[in-house]
Amino acid sequence: MSFNLQSSKKLFIFLGKSLFTLLEAMIFALLPKQQKNVAGEIVLITGAGSGLGRLLALQFARRGSVLVLWDVNKEGNEETCKMAQEAGVTRVHAYTCDCSQKEEVYRVADQVKKEVGDVSILINNAGIVTGKNFLDCPDELMEKSFDVNFKAHLWTYKAFLPAMIANDHGHLVCISSSAGLVGVNGLADYCASKFAAFGLAESVFVETFVQNQKGIKTTIVCPFFIKTGMFEGCTTACPSLLPILEPEYAAEKIVEAILQEKMYFYMPKFLYFMMFLKSFLPLKTVLLIGDYLDIFHAMDGFLERKKKL
Ligand SMILES: NC(=O)c1ccc[n+]([C@@H]2O[C@H](COP(=O)([O-])OP(=O)(O)OC[C@H]3O[C@@H](n4cnc5c(N)ncnc54)[C@H](O)[C@@H]3O)[C@@H](O)[C@H]2O)c1
Repeated sequence: MSFNLQSSKKLFIFLGKSLFTLLEAMIFALLPKQQKNVAGEIVLITGAGSGLGRLLALQFARRGSVLVLWDVNKEGNEETCKMAQEAGVTRVHAYTCDCSQKEEVYRVADQVKKEVGDVSILINNAGIVTGKNFLDCPDELMEKSFDVNFKAHLWTYKAFLPAMIANDHGHLVCISSSAGLVGVNGLADYCASKFAAFGLAESVFVETFVQNQKGIKTTIVCPFFIKTGMFEGCTTACPSLLPILEPEYAAEKIVEAILQEKMYFYMPKFLYFMMFLKSFLPLKTVLLIGDYLDIFHAMDGFLERKKKL
C-alpha cells in the first residue's frame, strides 16, 4: 500500500515537472533568444586552419573571446591567427597540433594551460573524410578517420574538462555531421566516427547532468554539406529541403546555437524532420524517401583532396 502511494506520488511529481518543462520550452520558443556573452572566454578551436574552424574563430574574435587555434596545418592556422587579429582580437594563440596523436594533444594541451589558462569553450571541429566505399577504404585511412574525427575528442575532453568541472564553467562543442545521424553509402568510416563523436558528447553531457555539474554546457552540431571544399563534388538533388550550406551562414548559425546553449543543432531544419520520420516509418518507406532525395548518390561526384593530411 505504502509502495503504491510512494510510486503514485513519484509519478505525479514526474508528470507535473514534465508538463512544466514542456510549457517552459514553449514559452522560451516564443521569446527572443538570449545569447551568452563570450568576451574574455578562452575558446579553443581544433581544425582552425581553414573552412568552418577558421570562420568560427573569426566569429568568436568579433565577440572578444581569447582564441586558442589548433591545426595540423601550421600555415593555414597562422593565417587564421592573423585574420583574427585583424578582426580585432588581441589575445590569439596558434598551436600546431596533430589531433590524431594522443600524446601530442596532451602535450599541446599542457602548453595551452600554462601559457593561456583554462579553456572554457572547447570546439572539436578538426575533421577529415576519406569518401570511399567501405571495402575500398584502406585500414590506415579508416583508423585516421577515427583518430581525427572521434578519438581527438576523447583526449581533448580529458585534457580540458577537469578544469571546467573545477570552475563549474565550460562548454563542450562537438562538430559532428548529418552523417553522424544517418548512415550514408560511401561514408562508412566517416559516419561511424561522427556517430561516435555524437555519442561521446551526449554521454559526457548525461554524466555532467547526473553529477549536477550545471555549469558545463554541451552543443552537438550536425550540418549537412557545407561549401568548404571538404565534400567537393558532392551534390544534393533537393536543394530546397537539403541545400548545400554556405560556410559563413553555417558558422554564424553554429555560433548562435552555442551562444544560446542549444544541446542539439541540426542544419538545415529539415534534418529534424528526417530524423523524426526515420524513428517510426517502415524501413522500405525510409529507403524510398532516401531514394527520392537522391541521398544514395550524394557522394558519387566526390573529389578527393589532393593534399595529404
Ligand atoms: N564541409 C562539410 O560539408 C561538413 C558537413 C558536416 C560536418 N562537417 C565537419 O565540420 C568540420 C570542419 O570541416 P570543414 O568543412 O571546415 O573542412 P576543412 O577541411 O576545411 O577543415 C578541416 C580542418 O581540420 C584540420 N585537420 C585535419 N586533420 C587534422 C589533425 N589531424 N589535427 C589537427 N587538425 C586537423 C585541417 O587542416 C583543416 O584545417 C569537420 O569536423 C567536418 O567533418 C563538415
